[in-house]
Amino acid sequence: EVNEVKKIAVIAGDGIGPEVVAEAEKVLKRTEELFGHKFETEHALFGGIAIDERGTPLPDDTLAICKASDAVLLGAVGGPKWDNNSKELRPETGLLGIRKALGLFSNIRPAVIFDCLKEASTLKPEVLEGTDLIVVRELTGGIYFGEKFRRETENGQEAVDTCVYNVSEIERIARQAFEIALTRSKKLTSVDKANVLETSRLWRETVIRISADYPDVELDHVLVDNCAMQLLRRPSSFDVIVTENMFGDILSDEAAMLTGSIGMLSSASLGEGSFGLYEPVHGSAPDIAGQGISNPIATILSVALMFRLTFGYHEAAASIERAVKNVLDAGHRTGDIAVDKSSAIGTTAMGDLIVAAM
Ligand code: NAI
Ligand code: MG
Repeated sequence: EVNEVKKIAVIAGDGIGPEVVAEAEKVLKRTEELFGHKFETEHALFGGIAIDERGTPLPDDTLAICKASDAVLLGAVGGPKWDNNSKELRPETGLLGIRKALGLFSNIRPAVIFDCLKEASTLKPEVLEGTDLIVVRELTGGIYFGEKFRRETENGQEAVDTCVYNVSEIERIARQAFEIALTRSKKLTSVDKANVLETSRLWRETVIRISADYPDVELDHVLVDNCAMQLLRRPSSFDVIVTENMFGDILSDEAAMLTGSIGMLSSASLGEGSFGLYEPVHGSAPDIAGQGISNPIATILSVALMFRLTFGYHEAAASIERAVKNVLDAGHRTGDIAVDKSSAIGTTAMGDLIVAAM
């Protein structure tokens, strides 16, 4: 098992994407040396650079490389150069396309507080103490994908958005969340609006039914408005949160801000089985691209997430997470997380320190 070769499609993308992905690849290499795991990486074109070189943001061979892989590591795409392109020649269209083509129906975002960065958050350090949670957001259903239209009525124009969820959509995301909860502290919070919405009532019934298969996981249900409050009041009381698309969109951004900098946030998009696409939450940061000052930690932590969720390499993941913590504890900072900007270190220096600390 340990020596099984895992295939990883590497998509660097645009802007700071190639810089941060290069540091994440150093971490992959170091993991091979330290833990005996074996990775075969294949680079693929995607986003703006693919538009320039191939005339499409998502070339067929890139998709084929992803499909033939166990996981995808993605940097970021986009930039002003392509902003005025037509829809099919925009990098973002490639992002939606790749998620759909790979059947990725959930988005997962951890929010972890690093003690030494607590001061950078807008919340009080004592409120943040011990926060380590994951938001599991349903990604392909609900009101964002329901029928939408406008109509003329005798009272003027009306707009309609519809929210639809079927049982199987809820079941698969619920199972995924329970599985993730099993790898952590076995506590799952399902967030809905079951006092008002019919889709939420079906959501809650279905999650409760699936919970019978996970007797070791403690399940509770929280209404979305209350969850929004509790995230700010006692974030450390949450472990895994599972919720539908729109609630998850809002709550995952709220949870992200608990931790301060966008340069620290990792994410995963998962489908059936263990396959996943891993990427930093941030974009291509054109304002700092090419200067070698971007923070590679979000991408490096995305590798740790890949190890946990796709490969089950928990020891290697913990080694990366500990290394990041130790490097930060020792006072090293890239510009985005530095209080004293003049002492900030660059992208490769940060990557090298983390690799050395593993
Ligand atoms: P952004 O996340 O790229 O940048 C926002 C701000 O955070 C900028 O000031 C940037 O310098 C800073 N920042 C981001 N990542 C950082 C890092 N690792 N280290 C240090 N500072 C960092 O978001 P923005 O500016 O809204 O979008 C820029 C481009 O990225 C756009 O073309 C957008 O469409 C694209 N984008 C792509 C995403 C993806 O590939 N998944 C996600 C979000 C945006
Ligand atoms: Mg959002």
